Amino acid sequence: MELTPELVRETATKISEPKTYGQFIGGEWVESSSGKTIALENPSTRQVLGHVQAGNAADATRAAEAAAAAFPKWSQSMPAQRQALLRAIAQKLRDRQFDYAMMESLNNGKPITDAYTHDVPGAIGHFEYFAGAAFHIHGEVADFADATMIVHREPLGVVAQIIPWNVPLLMAAFKIAPALAAGCTIVLKPAEVACLSVMEFIADIADIVPPGVINVITGYGQDVGEPLITHPAVRKVAFTGSRPTAQKIIGYAAQNIIPQTMELGGKSANIVCESADIEAAAQSAVITTAFNKGEVCSAGTRSLVHEKVEDQFLEAFERQLAQVRQGDPLDLDTQLGAMASKTQFDKVRSYLELGPEEGARIHVGGKPAQIEGLQDGYFIEPTIFTDVRTDMRIAQEEIFGPVNSVIRWKDEDELLSIANDSIYGLAGGIWTTNLNQAHRLARGLETGMIWINRYYNFKPGMPLGGYKQSGFGREGTLETLKHYTQSKAVVINLEEPNSKYAVRAPAPNADS
Ligand code: NAI
Ligand code: MG
Repeated sequence: MELTPELVRETATKISEPKTYGQFIGGEWVESSSGKTIALENPSTRQVLGHVQAGNAADATRAAEAAAAAFPKWSQSMPAQRQALLRAIAQKLRDRQFDYAMMESLNNGKPITDAYTHDVPGAIGHFEYFAGAAFHIHGEVADFADATMIVHREPLGVVAQIIPWNVPLLMAAFKIAPALAAGCTIVLKPAEVACLSVMEFIADIADIVPPGVINVITGYGQDVGEPLITHPAVRKVAFTGSRPTAQKIIGYAAQNIIPQTMELGGKSANIVCESADIEAAAQSAVITTAFNKGEVCSAGTRSLVHEKVEDQFLEAFERQLAQVRQGDPLDLDTQLGAMASKTQFDKVRSYLELGPEEGARIHVGGKPAQIEGLQDGYFIEPTIFTDVRTDMRIAQEEIFGPVNSVIRWKDEDELLSIANDSIYGLAGGIWTTNLNQAHRLARGLETGMIWINRYYNFKPGMPLGGYKQSGFGREGTLETLKHYTQSKAVVINLEEPNSKYAVRAPAPNADS
């Protein structure tokens, strides 16, 4: 589809017509028993885009019960049925691809072009990937001289899925697609900051999803998180968001002894070696700084640059960053939009003040950006910090904004100790033309995803997830299906009954 300013205007007007969304429970739209709602805002204009229910414990219980009621039947569905549903969901997204892009742009502040070319296709691709995977969930058999062992793989049951506001639709896809493929039923809790696209998506697929298979409750995390995750019917929680919230969720899951998968952001290193193509490396630094306003868990927020190429890199980085078009997210040329919320805007600003207090230098940017016609918007200038030491908070903490720190290194040992000096370990980039060095450094990084010579080079089936406090579990890949299923081992004896030994030794070569 050709994107034109007229199409943008018409679609924006249509999508900005405020609606109030209920919670989607057992196939019905219902109001929260709290009687309260939460406004969804456009962070570029502060215009209200709609309302969602401020859910409470009673809603969480109701949703968990609806998901539990739907589980026996859905867990027995055939692979072809799951595949058909996943493909039909992908088609629903494709049918309104530009509308969804508009919802993401209006509610999150991201450029419409990025939402259209990245977020929505990413969500579609996810449903299609797991549509294929639905046929590949099966157990194993192992043969022994005296027995056959069957390992079944069974869906876990009701899963709670809690998602953030930076890429709402994509996050919903990351969570819903594998759970459906595995035969689980779902209670999804989108973020109260931005979930217009998620609510509209659920409304669009409501008639093709069997009642109770997907349930959605909205509200503040502290009101619905604990009652949902500690509900006895809930058998797993999948979460993407901040580390402090993860710690709470892991605590709730501990009460219920249920497995968790966690995707918690990072402080990833984009490493520039002496032999690197410096223009290309600088371009990747620009992209990772500006894309989605830096509200990306895997952003390469620390540029670790070899001292011999530091000046050249910084010159290229600064020059290319100056070309980034910041402005109205609805302008088709815009590359850098508004921070998703006032909270996020204030958080990024606080780090822009902290950097110089810690002794870092603002090389470019460093303040809120003034955008003509959008004075109330939460815009931040793209910012480069130099003179950064790895022990500074700006080099350790996730800022989640268009802010990059340049740190120099002189040899590989020093480089790896800086790169790994982080509680996080989500992603990383390596720029080098030396093959040995590329592999050596990739092995040395304590991080779950590494891109050599192109940052953000996401590929279908790539395991997405982190080391250390970036979380655990992997999404977007066949391994994800293991997180939504459990194994059941059945051993069939092939020998005739042995009257002498009612109980046999566990294994012939066990030590005990
Ligand atoms: P958050 O982690 O508090 O919010 C994410 C989701 O968790 C939302 O749906 C929220 O309602 C829910 N939540 C909050 N408290 C909860 C609780 N007690 N129980 C259950 N669910 C709960 O993130 P927040 O506060 O919006 O953002 C703070 C920082 O987190 C950001 O500045 C960024 O650094 C990081 N973050 C990382 C993301 C990632 O992709 N890994 C995504 C969003 C935020
Ligand atoms: Mg929070």
